[in-house]
Amino acid sequence: MTNRLTFFSLLFILLTGCQTSLSDKEVAAYIEKGSLISKSTGKELSGTLTSKMKSGGISEAVEFCNTAALPLTQQMADQHEVLIKRTSLKTRNPLNKPTDNELAILKEFQADLDKGISLEPRIKLDQNGIPNYYAPILIEKKCLNCHGTLGQELSRPVDSIIRSYYPNDMATGYSEGDLRGIWSIAFSKPNQ
Ligand code: HEC
Repeated sequence: MTNRLTFFSLLFILLTGCQTSLSDKEVAAYIEKGSLISKSTGKELSGTLTSKMKSGGISEAVEFCNTAALPLTQQMADQHEVLIKRTSLKTRNPLNKPTDNELAILKEFQADLDKGISLEPRIKLDQNGIPNYYAPILIEKKCLNCHGTLGQELSRPVDSIIRSYYPNDMATGYSEGDLRGIWSIAFSKPNQ
């Protein structure tokens, strides 16, 4: 009897305390919100990156990424009251290392890309019922100076600058169209 009671009270807490699914409408709304946030953050990052490349060359641009990429992302996160992260199977900055949930998504996206399936943003509820937005980040031509193949698009001098900031850099050897990583956005308050 006590066991059954405990079971039902646990079930009740699970069902009421923690969201377990979202309606199609909610999913669509989170996709829209996530896409807006990731696009505007991406624009901030690449806009400043491009102007740094023009004014100070690649080394200044690397320095910008090193000092400003995370604070800038944090600023956008505060503004939208969400958590924003860019992560990858091969990270440059160890602070961007994927969580188990992110790792699973990265592997799913990579498998889909390998099969030629086009990658679309998706929403998943985490263990705490928090909706998370995940979207692919693909390599474009302009990324190759810093993420391409060593000795080709990625020159040795640039690689050594990058290595001086990131001794454990794994984020090289990419080609155009490769999956570089994902946007991972957590809507910390459900239904906000
Ligand atoms: C000027 C060099 C440079 C260029 C060009 C560049 N990146 Fe990066 N990228 C970096 C650096 C440096 C970091 C580490 C930033 C940090 O410390 O958070 C980084 C980090 C990242 C991360 C975060 C995950 C990780 O590995 O730490 C992603 C995703 C990423 N870059 C994607 C891209 C994409 C996509 C492009 C092209 C649109 C691009 N980058 C162009 C230098 C560059």
